[in-house]
Amino acid sequence: MTHTILVTGGAGFIGSNFVHMLAELRPEARVVNLDALTYAGNLENLEPVAKLPGQRFVHGDITVPEDVERAFAEARALGGALSVVHFAAESHVDRSIQSGAPFVTTNVLGTQVLLDASRRHAVQKFVHVSTDEVYGSLGETGFFTEETPLAPNSPYSASKAGSDLLVRAAVHTHGFQACITRCSNNYGPYQFPEKFLPLMIANASEGRPIPVYGDGLYVRDWLYVRDHCEAILAVLERGRAGEVYNIGGNNELANLVLVRQVLAALGKPESLITFVKDRPGHDRRYAIDASKIRRELGWTPRFTFAEALPETIRWYAQHAGWLQRVRSGAYRDYYARQYGSA
Ligand code: NAD
Ligand code: DAU
Repeated sequence: MTHTILVTGGAGFIGSNFVHMLAELRPEARVVNLDALTYAGNLENLEPVAKLPGQRFVHGDITVPEDVERAFAEARALGGALSVVHFAAESHVDRSIQSGAPFVTTNVLGTQVLLDASRRHAVQKFVHVSTDEVYGSLGETGFFTEETPLAPNSPYSASKAGSDLLVRAAVHTHGFQACITRCSNNYGPYQFPEKFLPLMIANASEGRPIPVYGDGLYVRDWLYVRDHCEAILAVLERGRAGEVYNIGGNNELANLVLVRQVLAALGKPESLITFVKDRPGHDRRYAIDASKIRRELGWTPRFTFAEALPETIRWYAQHAGWLQRVRSGAYRDYYARQYGSA
């Protein structure tokens, strides 16, 4: 049977990796990619798959019902069972601290517009891609499980928690077939260089300072983006409707340890490390208990950090032109606001 997947935000970091993975693992699936091409969305990310049969791009905004309707019309025209994987979001914590309103608009309102259209079009499965940040911050021990109460601390994570609750309400009220995934920090190809890992690779490669917030002892659980995409596919195909699935890398690292590893891999001096003013409300530690998805769907990360970090660094070295292009224009203005002239 044919299957059409409406992907939102497929020109961004994780979304484009997901579309690439679908082309490889599910070549028979048809894909409609709805993306507003904000500063974080880049059609160049889709070049390797754009010309394949069964790939469609719709330029549109998830907060605009007419745009969402156009994407559904495209998907319906392709035929077969219809599902939705929802990545589109404002995704950067620091930007949400500068201004929260765009986060509420896209992440909260946009998700509701998409849910309404998905119900009208009798979508068979809806996967809402959320984040471990909705659980708030951990102390030195413990892990987030799917039962951990929501306690978001930034405008970004609060807007994601809002969208999670709207998905939950659609399941509860309308019997809508949706799952929510909550994953930890991704890294890999095509990540916009405002996020810490590509930012430090880009800066270190050019011998520029690496801004480390506060004492640098904040801990994140790093997950290779391909592993995340495979987990989402497992949830799309076999996840139980109404369930939440945590996705993590079993790979906790303090920011300073990560920076030192990147500098060592690039043969750059530790003197590039520059401590800067901390992020307000900075969550101290995230760590994921991913035993539910392992138990129910048999997913566990395939890539170790020892292999995927050098692979990621190589990718950025081989895509210097891509990096140059995404760092031009709007991103430069944002960088100046966030770090001054650093
Ligand atoms: P990203 O910022 O790289 O990409 C977001 C994409 O959404 C872009 O292509 C952008 O153009 C598009 N978009 C933004 N607003 C839109 C709108 N109103 N209408 C249509 N398209 C719009 O984000 P990412 O890092 O790939 O994250 C994807 C999803 O995964 C997000 O929902 C994010 O909250 C979640 N997530 C990300 C991470 C991570 O480490 N990057 C971890 C956990 C969860
Ligand atoms: O945990 C999942 C989340 O991971 C996702 O939901 C978000 O979309 C994604 O952006 C990411 O959020 P973080 O805030 O953890 O990622 P970021 O790359 O911005 O920062 C990672 C850590 O590095 C964090 O402790 C802040 C720190 N940092 C970040 C930047 C940009 C620095 O020390 N210096 C920096 O310049």
